Amino acid sequence: MRLGPYDLPANLFLSPLAGYTNLPFRVTLRELGGLAWATTDLVNARSLLERNRTALQLTATSPEDRPLAIQLFGSVPEEMRDAAVMCQELGAQSVDINMGCPVKKVVKIGGGSAMMTELDKTAALVRGMIAAVKIPVTAKMRLGWDDDNLTAPDLARVLEDAGIAAIFVHGRTRAQGFGGTVNLAGIRAVVQAVKGIPVIGNGDITTPEAAKHMLDETGCAGVSIGRGAFYDPWIFRRTAQYLATGELPPEPDFNERLRVLRRHFERYVQFYGEAHGARLFRRVAPWYAKRFGPSKPFKQRITKINSAADFDAAIAEYVAWRAQFCDERGELLPRFAPAPMVASFMRDDADPTERTAIPVPKGPVDVW
Ligand SMILES: Cc1cc2nc3c(=O)[nH]c(=O)nc-3n(C[C@H](O)[C@H](O)[C@H](O)COP(=O)(O)O)c2cc1C
Repeated sequence: MRLGPYDLPANLFLSPLAGYTNLPFRVTLRELGGLAWATTDLVNARSLLERNRTALQLTATSPEDRPLAIQLFGSVPEEMRDAAVMCQELGAQSVDINMGCPVKKVVKIGGGSAMMTELDKTAALVRGMIAAVKIPVTAKMRLGWDDDNLTAPDLARVLEDAGIAAIFVHGRTRAQGFGGTVNLAGIRAVVQAVKGIPVIGNGDITTPEAAKHMLDETGCAGVSIGRGAFYDPWIFRRTAQYLATGELPPEPDFNERLRVLRRHFERYVQFYGEAHGARLFRRVAPWYAKRFGPSKPFKQRITKINSAADFDAAIAEYVAWRAQFCDERGELLPRFAPAPMVASFMRDDADPTERTAIPVPKGPVDVW
């Protein structure tokens, strides 16, 4: 698909996940294949202009981390404009504007989903950014503030006129938070509202089938996956294959999951240093464990690691413990296999074993 001046080999995108979509994660995902485009965590425009250390670290990238969009949030037009110029200078292929974040600290200053309520003001801000840079500017939004204010189609139209290159839309309102079902009709309304720019649908995609379902039902040009990439870093490759051939590739086996977990950890250590990287990885590893089968002791142990040696020991202990749930070939016995994931918008109410809700990680961003 085409996004601004870029011809992308696939229509699969990584959604920004504050605290997670750092350089180590992005490169780990890209190496597995199928991912056409990734975005950084949201970055405060003012902090970036002040060259705040954390903001700069969020924009860190490398040659294999392409194409990359830096996501900005803020509401002061001059700051957003100057920060967009800075993103371009930092080597980003695109700048994305956060218009969907429901977190109070972002909304309070008129950023995030507050931008969806003031169309003219937002359009003026966006025009200022677009005029200042050569790279495309995109916007990420929710469907609107609440069910009575589904402003996304109007906003998308206004932004297209202002020159925005693509729209990413999470099919929920701000009021919904992460509850309820992703509204495919709401995403379709955004697709129908624009004249020519790509609309990329987002929300609750945890399987290749769910990605196809969203594409088919909404007519969106691509899909963006956030939490589903925690569960299944292979989701982009598997989805690309499924979309191309109609055949569902098998899920990776346990050894492959461990291999990628290790690569991801090594990159954390390289990027953040051993002690800090190990501590940050405490909240990453449990996501992998969700598809391991029984894993309680692993989760308890891995959330206390302080070093690479701790990490290795935790894995070794877990592999030995897990053997009791496996057959002679080392494969998990079917009765211990985790329940299949099903997207909220593909739920079969009659099947109580389905696992639909993806937990929102705890921590400073628990209200995303
Ligand atoms: C932990 C977490 C952090 C998030 N951080 C951001 C962010 O920085 N910028 C943003 O636009 N959306 C953010 N989101 C929203 C996601 O990009 C995405 O729209 C949402 O999670 C729905 O997609 P998913 O079901 O595929 O995760 C965040 C979501 C979560 C769970």
